[in-house]
Amino acid sequence: MTILVTGGAGFIGSNFVFHMLEKYPDYRIVCVDKLTYAGNLSTLKDVMNNPQFRFVKADICDRQAIYQLFEEEKPDIIVNFAAESHVDRSIENPEIFLQTNILGTQVLMDACRKYGITRYHQVSTDEVYGDLPLDRPDLFFTEETPIHTSSPYSSSKAGADLLVLAYHRTYGLPVTISRCSNNYGPYHFPEKLIPLMIINALADKPLPVYGEGLNVRDWLYVEDHCRAIDLIIHKGTVGEVYNVGGHNEMKNIDIVKLICEKLGKPESLITHVADRKGHDMRYAIDPTKIHRELGWLPETKFADGIEKTIQWYLTHREWWEEIISGDYQKYYEKMYGGREQFMV
Ligand code: NAD
Ligand code: DAU
Repeated sequence: MTILVTGGAGFIGSNFVFHMLEKYPDYRIVCVDKLTYAGNLSTLKDVMNNPQFRFVKADICDRQAIYQLFEEEKPDIIVNFAAESHVDRSIENPEIFLQTNILGTQVLMDACRKYGITRYHQVSTDEVYGDLPLDRPDLFFTEETPIHTSSPYSSSKAGADLLVLAYHRTYGLPVTISRCSNNYGPYHFPEKLIPLMIINALADKPLPVYGEGLNVRDWLYVEDHCRAIDLIIHKGTVGEVYNVGGHNEMKNIDIVKLICEKLGKPESLITHVADRKGHDMRYAIDPTKIHRELGWLPETKFADGIEKTIQWYLTHREWWEEIISGDYQKYYEKMYGGREQFMV
């Protein structure tokens, strides 16, 4: 069994590579990654010498490189994590999101049609459903919730999802799609809420909460997401979409306060800054289908997962210090440097 994992040098993809190599020692795992700002080879250093693992630096939009890789490896299953993944960056520059997230997906599926595979799995997001109102806690995203996106990022992911379903219907490609809620855990890139707040708090820097911080996200420990994808590619029904989430909704401001408490830092570090444009209010997944059909349940409680995650950032300083010492500084200055305060 050979599995091609795209975007495996990023946050969730790398955790998936580790999960698969450990659980299936006889599988061959081939990782293809462009190594954008979000991809780090240092993340994969512990598996680089594993004879069952191969890393290939390539862009999923590069048809020639992808076809050549399919010819060499003849993968059975493709799991596509490769994407531009940060909403704020998509608001600044949408184009690369459309290229990688939609056209890159098309190139991968064309390769699947040309060379033949048993499964193409698209790693999608709950953001394709748009958002839910704060005053309707009874509402959740199901697989039947209409696609209704807010940001260029979520629109590009929704475009890819539609294309994946079209390749199934039109060409009979054996596809599955998972739509997961917010992940957290080791190797999460510092631009995202939880690692950003941990790293800033450790340096006693301001903690920039967008607007009032009342927006709700539904947090899932990354390993639970990896187990869900593992189940879907082995046991999921072709042509189906599976929502993945653990009913763990939290307001942003409460997450940031919790991080302050865990690190012994004062809440006075919290700075309310101008809101994200088009900011989604609430995400909340109904995971009934994946539980009922595949028996999936989350295993890590948020209290344990956030503790493990904070410990990981405390013990892996070299990983994130290297990242934040480079271009990240320019990004941070551009995003937060002149950002107005938000009055609460
Ligand atoms: P990430 O930004 O940490 O990693 C993305 C990886 O893709 C990086 O290694 C990057 O180098 C690579 N990549 C980007 N463009 C590429 C290209 N053109 N060709 C090859 N590789 C390329 O992202 P993540 O948070 O790990 O997310 C992975 C996937 O999961 C994405 O598809 C995202 O939409 C989806 N997702 C993420 C979350 C979350 O909370 N992080 C939740 C649900 C779904
Ligand atoms: O829901 C799944 C999605 O979760 C994935 O598809 C995306 O790839 C992933 O990036 C994530 O998107 P979010 O926009 O929810 O994540 P982010 O970490 O950027 O922000 C989480 C919340 O925190 C959001 O309401 C915005 C807020 N925020 C974020 C940052 C970076 C702040 O208040 N301050 C910040 O500095």
